[in-house]
Amino acid sequence: MVTAHFAFLQLLLLSLLLASGVAMPTEEGVPSFHMDNVIQIIEELERLNPQWEILDTVQYFRQWHNYNNAYLEHLLGKLSPASQGLKQDPKEPQGNPMGQKFSPSYSSFLVKVLKHQVIGDVESGVVLTPDGTSVAVSPLIIGIEAGLKRNTRVITGLDSLIAATLGKDLGLSLLNFRNGLQSKALGPNGCWDNISRAQVYVLLDDPSPVTDAFINGAMDGVVLGAHLSIPDKPNSYNLSALLKDYYVSSGTKKPKNDVDLRSNFRRSLFAALVNVSVLQDQALASVLLYKNLSSDSHLVALDETRLHDPVKQGIQEFYETYVECPTIIPRCMWGAQPYKGTPTNLTLPLKFVYIHHTYEPGQPCTTFEQCAADMRSMQRFHQNDRQWDDIGYSFVAGSDGYLYEGRGWFWVGAHTKGHNSLGYGVSFIGNYMEEIPAGFTLSLVKDSFTTCGVRKGHLVPNYTIHGHRQLVATSCPGDALYSEISTWKHFKDVQKIHQQKSK
Ligand SMILES: *[C@@H]1O[C@H](CO)[C@@H](O)[C@H](O)[C@H]1NC(C)=O
Ligand SMILES: *[C@@H]1O[C@H](CO)[C@@H](O)[C@H](O)[C@H]1NC(C)=O
Ligand SMILES: *[C@@H]1O[C@H](CO)[C@@H](O)[C@H](O)[C@H]1NC(C)=O
Ligand SMILES: *[C@@H]1O[C@H](CO)[C@@H](O)[C@H](O)[C@H]1NC(C)=O
Ligand SMILES: *[C@@H]1O[C@H](CO)[C@@H](O)[C@H](O)[C@H]1NC(C)=O
Ligand SMILES: *[C@@H]1O[C@H](CO)[C@@H](O)[C@H](O)[C@H]1NC(C)=O
Repeated sequence: MVTAHFAFLQLLLLSLLLASGVAMPTEEGVPSFHMDNVIQIIEELERLNPQWEILDTVQYFRQWHNYNNAYLEHLLGKLSPASQGLKQDPKEPQGNPMGQKFSPSYSSFLVKVLKHQVIGDVESGVVLTPDGTSVAVSPLIIGIEAGLKRNTRVITGLDSLIAATLGKDLGLSLLNFRNGLQSKALGPNGCWDNISRAQVYVLLDDPSPVTDAFINGAMDGVVLGAHLSIPDKPNSYNLSALLKDYYVSSGTKKPKNDVDLRSNFRRSLFAALVNVSVLQDQALASVLLYKNLSSDSHLVALDETRLHDPVKQGIQEFYETYVECPTIIPRCMWGAQPYKGTPTNLTLPLKFVYIHHTYEPGQPCTTFEQCAADMRSMQRFHQNDRQWDDIGYSFVAGSDGYLYEGRGWFWVGAHTKGHNSLGYGVSFIGNYMEEIPAGFTLSLVKDSFTTCGVRKGHLVPNYTIHGHRQLVATSCPGDALYSEISTWKHFKDVQKIHQQKSK
């Protein structure tokens, strides 16, 4: 049954959604799991409670997180009954947790996205953001609360912002993995059943408690929390506006550099706030606090000195993989067709990285939507017109802050004739005859991708960079980009390296 009020709200939301061009709720009125929908619904909640500031909204949400309450209360304080105000509404016998004026379908949606959990290979409490990555909502919301309280609730030796978002979960996951209680310490990534009508998020591998989406949400919580913890910040802002700036603008505004406060740059923003040693100390301190407050016999029995090594070493690996490596948008997210036939495996580690430009598309892509469409059109061209098995490149660099997975780390590509099994082919989307990609886009390949490849053992430490034109008669990667890469440390003249090679 649709009440008049519900219908009105729906109409209102529908027109808002249409106006902003974001993902629509489905026919049944159940919104798809997009961040845009979370934001629209928070906006509606704020409209019904015009006196709420950011802290009121995030505190109000705390009752639906799937969290250990003693730990969170220790860090953030108890919730006052007032901040749970709307929950007990005598006119709602079924209990609409957001209060009677709020559409029941939206309140149940919000409660669902605030409860992070993994059952089998399905992760819930996760939404797809406009930048093409997925985030768990609850560590994000907790980070915002912790950030607002960071300067007032001081606990010696502990940064409550890191402890509340990431520290404890990361530390415990690393420990439990080490003690054989889990098959994985970190990750994995997942894929949506349908990008435009996102309903089910399925993990690509065995789950750990700190999935990629959880880590993304926690990092965003740290970034936004730190932003809000700067003293003298005007507090007239509201939660929906904050999230809209951070997430929605990512999908629409052209990024200028990687210190812009937007979700595309969460890794560099996080790196600027938290280094490895701080994260190691905070994860340890968080686990110790949790142990003190816990009745879990495994944990209570744990000798403190046995925490150090697994946590320190695990955090080092976490930092390398989730902070220093580039974000790679997996094939399922950009809508790749399957590989035709059976891929050939590379023999790793490789010694070369070959730099390309796509030429067509000739414009850099600056949003997930545009980069994903470019990937699909290149794959169509390579599979249908060229009759290749798949998109030729190993990886493709967008100008949205992300690398896109082509054939990836393990499969032989079709990018540099005669050399495909010797190196990774990495292409910049755009035509770079006359100009070069933005600095942060260049650095994604020059620094993050290569460092990450070496750490993973997929590239030798003294790998060589070549431009496509050094090996094949072509203008690729464009005059301007070629002259740029020829200044890179690992760039080499081809004669010196290849004179003895048979091919
Ligand atoms: C939230 O804040 C933004 C920016 O200050 C403002 O435009 C908007 O009207 C506010 N929304 C509500 C529901 O108060
Ligand atoms: C995804 O959902 C949209 C909207 O409901 C639908 O039109 C489309 O066919 C779906 N795509 C797939 C691959 O199922
Ligand atoms: C990490 O950050 C802390 C605090 O900002 C700083 O004191 C420390 O020197 C940094 N450590 C390294 C290794 O950069
Ligand atoms: C844990 O409890 C012990 C004993 O009460 C205390 O000495 C220690 O400081 C506590 N540690 C933390 C991190 O709270
Ligand atoms: C290629 O690698 C995959 C995954 O590691 C493995 O399952 C497969 O057997 C390998 N194929 C060949 C031909 O070695
Ligand atoms: C790279 O290092 C290996 C092992 O240290 C060495 O054998 C090889 O000659 C080096 N290659 C180049 C291109 O410097």
